[in-house]
Order: sequence, then C-alpha cells, then structure tokens
Amino acid sequence: MTQDELKRLVAQAAVDYVRKNAPQGSVIGVGTGSTANCFIDALAPLQGHFCGAVASSEASRERLESIGFKVFDLNEVSEIPFYVDGADEVDAGLSAIKGGGAALTREKIVAAVASRFICIADASKKVEVLGRFPLPVEVIPMAREHVARRLKALGGEPKWREGVITDNGNLILDVHGLAITDPVGLESAIDHISGVVTNGLFARRPVDLLLLSSADGVVSFV
Ligand code: A5P
Repeated sequence: MTQDELKRLVAQAAVDYVRKNAPQGSVIGVGTGSTANCFIDALAPLQGHFCGAVASSEASRERLESIGFKVFDLNEVSEIPFYVDGADEVDAGLSAIKGGGAALTREKIVAAVASRFICIADASKKVEVLGRFPLPVEVIPMAREHVARRLKALGGEPKWREGVITDNGNLILDVHGLAITDPVGLESAIDHISGVVTNGLFARRPVDLLLLSSADGVVSFV
C-alpha cells in the first residue's frame, strides 16, 4: 500500500470511531497535516452528526469549511469530546512529537481542551525513542537566537525553519540530534525558556488513543 492509502485507511478508522463514540451534536476537534486532511475528507458524510468543528490551523479551517462544516472559534466552545490529529513520531508511552506542519501551538491548545486525543498515523511514525524527527519549537521572533542558544545547552542542534511564519505570527526552530528519553522533563524544560511559545512534545498531555495503519490493517494502542 502507498503512504497515501495508509493515511486514508487510518483516517477512515478514526471517522468510524468518532461516528460510534462522539455524542450527536457535539463539536469535533480537527488537527493539521496530510493525515488530518484525509480525516477531514472522510468526515464529510458525518456533517449532520456534529454541530461543527474546531480547527488547529487556518489551513484545516478552510478545508473543513470547504466541505460545509461550521468551524467555531475555540473561545465559543467549552467541550470537545475528541480531537483527531496526526503526529510526526509516537513512542510506546504514547508521547508524541508534532509540529512538522508548524501548527503545534494551536494543536496543543485544542488537545488540552479535548477530552480525548486520537492520534492517527501510519506505522512508520511509531518509534522506540523520540527525536529522530527534529523537534519543532515555536518562538517569538525577537527571542530566536536566545532560544537557540538555550536549546544547544540542552544538547540539541536548533535550525531555524526559514521562510515559515506560524498562524500566530511566530518562528519555528527545529531541534535536531535529540534522543528524548524523558519527554515530560524535556517538554517542561523547553517551555521554561523565555521566548518559547510551545514545543512539539505532547508528553504531559499524551495521546489517549493511537490508531496506526499498515498493510495488515489498523491497530489501536491505549
Ligand atoms: C502539524 O503541525 C503536525 O503536527 C502534523 O500533525 C504532523 O506533522 C503530521 O503530519 P502528517 O500527517 O502530514 O505526516
């Protein structure tokens, strides 16, 4: 199966899951990226089931609206039963790296509001130790070099993702060369650097349900 077929397979599994488990009339949280796009496309027939969605990026908001979904501002919503999104890496403890699409801050906010975070990915995203995928860090522009020095002191090699401005008007540093054996500790340490908005580790609030696709089908991890 191709990578695209695997993404569509796991996206459909997530749609089947939320159809069965999300209360009628609830709001669905929707992530960002190519796998989340497959989820949005497969969600179209469920429009009547949900009163609308909250999106973790402008790109996903536009895609949801293009299939007729009402998209709420998060401030209008107090309960989101499920947030469905992809990931760049997930470990056995269901900690994840996200932010390859630069939407990490809004992703983390929507995940924080959601009761359950369903992560959808193909099996290549499951790793023993997080960090082969460079860890994205969203940074206030004036703090870029300060944050980069602090990230170096933590053992990483930060590289500025030049040309990318987040939906919040900030920059991304991608931190290479990390072997993240303490995701909770590193997430907290990076968040404490002045000028950091968010980092792409989802460890303090890990994934609740991981759906992983391979040529053999979709497997769940909780
Ligand atoms: C977006 O900022 C990311 O967190 C994505 O969820 C992540 O990069 C996975 O993207 P793909 O589904 O495109 O691999």
